[in-house]
Amino acid sequence: MKVSYMAQHLIGSEIIRIAASVNELIAKGEKICNLTIGDFEPKYFPIPEEYKNAITDAYNKGETNYPAANGIAPLRNAVSKFLSEYEKLSYSPDEILISAGARPLIYGVFVTLIDKGDTVIYPVPSWNNNHYVHITGAKGIPVDVKAENNFLPVADDFRSHLKDATLVSLCSPLNPTGTTISQEQLEGICDLIIEENKRRGEKQKPLYLLYDQIYWLLTFGEHTHFNPVSLRPEMKKYTVFIDGMSKAFASTGVRVGWAFGPKEVIERMKAILSHLGAWAPKAEQVATANFLTKNTAINNYLTLFKNKIEERLTVLYDGLINLKEEGYPVDAIVPMAAIYLTARFDLIGKMGVDGKIFKDSTDITDFLLHKAKMAVVPFYAFGASINNAWFRLSVGAVTVEEIKGVLGNLREALETLKAVEVERG
Ligand SMILES: Cc1ncc(COP(=O)(O)O)c(C=O)c1O
Repeated sequence: MKVSYMAQHLIGSEIIRIAASVNELIAKGEKICNLTIGDFEPKYFPIPEEYKNAITDAYNKGETNYPAANGIAPLRNAVSKFLSEYEKLSYSPDEILISAGARPLIYGVFVTLIDKGDTVIYPVPSWNNNHYVHITGAKGIPVDVKAENNFLPVADDFRSHLKDATLVSLCSPLNPTGTTISQEQLEGICDLIIEENKRRGEKQKPLYLLYDQIYWLLTFGEHTHFNPVSLRPEMKKYTVFIDGMSKAFASTGVRVGWAFGPKEVIERMKAILSHLGAWAPKAEQVATANFLTKNTAINNYLTLFKNKIEERLTVLYDGLINLKEEGYPVDAIVPMAAIYLTARFDLIGKMGVDGKIFKDSTDITDFLLHKAKMAVVPFYAFGASINNAWFRLSVGAVTVEEIKGVLGNLREALETLKAVEVERG
């Protein structure tokens, strides 16, 4: 082996496999409605104008040298104020760590808390937990969660796994589902964590909670975001939050994220990440500090931005539910947040026009791509079984017209399967 065991065994991404097929078809001139991208097309979703101007201003003013290892003080102050105003959370600037987006911070939480062999519990489907578990040599316990709980865990899902675990990793609003954890669900899980930590006492490493709320500003309608510390203040000792600019302000390429949590954990994360050089660029930090104080600009941007996302998700959801009501084997969960819709294409075991039986979610993905020109990501890519017929549909890179068009294609594609079924009797 020429590389480490860890590197050799890091599994490839299913999303990248699908992206390669999509690109192949696009290169052949096919028009694909690409619902695979967990990102924003800047043509439809630009970053806030004030933010863009602040970034270019900062470069013009020569803000181009190393920033402080934990993030520049004005930005940590601005994040502290933002959290207090927008989420009623009280964190001082020295409990906040800035980095180049959320990813280095999630990695930082894992390497800071996990010793090789430590147990990490995470619900499935979820985004990338399996990879961080692998990188840190943790013992991962993926826990399948139920569609009827909007694919978010309840206390009973975790109860039997918590003894001696080191970390519970949660995300809400959730990638890949676009659903949010309810107050009751989150309270139940917090109570278990508090109870387990009481049982442990001071000598053992506590059971921590990683709470990734990167999509929290993107909730729709009556759906609300809940966080563990507001619901159970005792959770402050055990919770490390992940948050940032990437999703709420369509700024995935700008690379500014923050973690906040117990000071001693944040300090150690800072020390580790400083060796990676994973800080956000200085000019972007200056600009983010400036933008986060502009409440009117923030509120105006979020209103418009969320309307555009919600419109796309609603058109998609309504279209799928119409098909369901007409008897096609599809289903969807009401969109609550983020840029994702959860949909089910119940085709496993059915016969395609080529006479082949759909054996698993890969066949469904390929059918939707080739026959409906609709590119989607199976929950299999988020740790679920390959036989799981639920999919993530992301609307960050498509127009409403494209969605309407693809719903027509989908109907035609499903109709061909109906014809096969009738023929088979
Ligand atoms: C749940 C979740 N957390 C974190 C990230 C990463 O965010 P960033 O681009 O800031 O690294 C993503 C990106 O897709 C995500 O879906």
